[in-house]
Amino acid sequence: GTRASSTNHTKYKEIISTLPRIEGRWRQSQQLHEYQGFWFGQNILEGIMSAQEHLKAQPTDIFICSHPKSGTTWLKALSFAILTRKRFSDSSTNPLLSELPHDVMPFIDILAFTDITSRDPELPLLSTHMPYTSLPKSIVECKCKIIYICRDPKDLFISLWHFAGKVRGTSAETFPLEEACQKFCEGLHNYGPYWDHVLGYWKASLQFPERMLFIKYEDLQNDTFSYVKRMADFMGCPFSMEEERQGLVQKVVDLCSFEILSNLEVNKSKKPSSAIGQYVKIEKKAFFRKGKVGDWENYLTADMAATIDQITEQKFSGSGLSF
Ligand code: A3P
Repeated sequence: GTRASSTNHTKYKEIISTLPRIEGRWRQSQQLHEYQGFWFGQNILEGIMSAQEHLKAQPTDIFICSHPKSGTTWLKALSFAILTRKRFSDSSTNPLLSELPHDVMPFIDILAFTDITSRDPELPLLSTHMPYTSLPKSIVECKCKIIYICRDPKDLFISLWHFAGKVRGTSAETFPLEEACQKFCEGLHNYGPYWDHVLGYWKASLQFPERMLFIKYEDLQNDTFSYVKRMADFMGCPFSMEEERQGLVQKVVDLCSFEILSNLEVNKSKKPSSAIGQYVKIEKKAFFRKGKVGDWENYLTADMAATIDQITEQKFSGSGLSF
């Protein structure tokens, strides 16, 4: 309830005040706090602590997990469209046409949503940006299914930098790319270091392949059709032969495409997301920028790209993971 959470609020603030702290620079006067090996802004961290303390996952829950800017919006749209294809067999009634994909499922990192009583009883989807090792215990204990998406660290960084620019707004002084790159390489951003985030889920996916589906944005772009089928199998609602013959897989692919989603009135809106907007008042259209692989080439100097690649090589060395 609300009363309990405001007491906790104070409790979390006290704990947070004892954590290592650094100036973030991605947002104006935003401090980052180090918690369980990752950096977080105050609001997010309060939400995470609350979720860790209170969230009671059900074995049937399916978690959409990612580091911000990895392709979360797309993955949410796809998983929702797959699971609700029977309910909205008349696709003109699909909520994805009138709501931002982030707003069709709870985002548990936010204090207000950890009490997830208002969720759609027919929809098992929940979402989080938490690192694997910080997930609320019940998610791991209940052996909940997890779908994780990640992408080339260079593209992720460029996407993050643009997004931060939108959060800062036009009145704020700009955050030079080079300085941002340095911060990114040091892991000094919300949910950073990115590489450790990816590695945590990667290792878990090797350990528990039956409950984790690990997807790269690049692979998803390359063959969305196969991944939609794989996601459906994984979530326990495979497409029947009949559905395949009716072209339902392609329908999901099309509905969730960058072109379709980014051109919907709702997703061009300057209104904030209701799920995410609790801590970042960011317009919905900020979640759709370019939707391409390799856009980093248009921004990064050779030096910056080499620095990021070096870290990727070093951090992922021996893990079997590469970009
Ligand atoms: P770019 O900034 O490179 O364009 P997240 O959803 O995790 O915040 O990630 C945002 C990134 O995913 C942005 O990347 C955004 O344009 C891209 N994106 C959003 N919707 C997409 C879609 N339907 N298909 C492909 N990419 C999408």
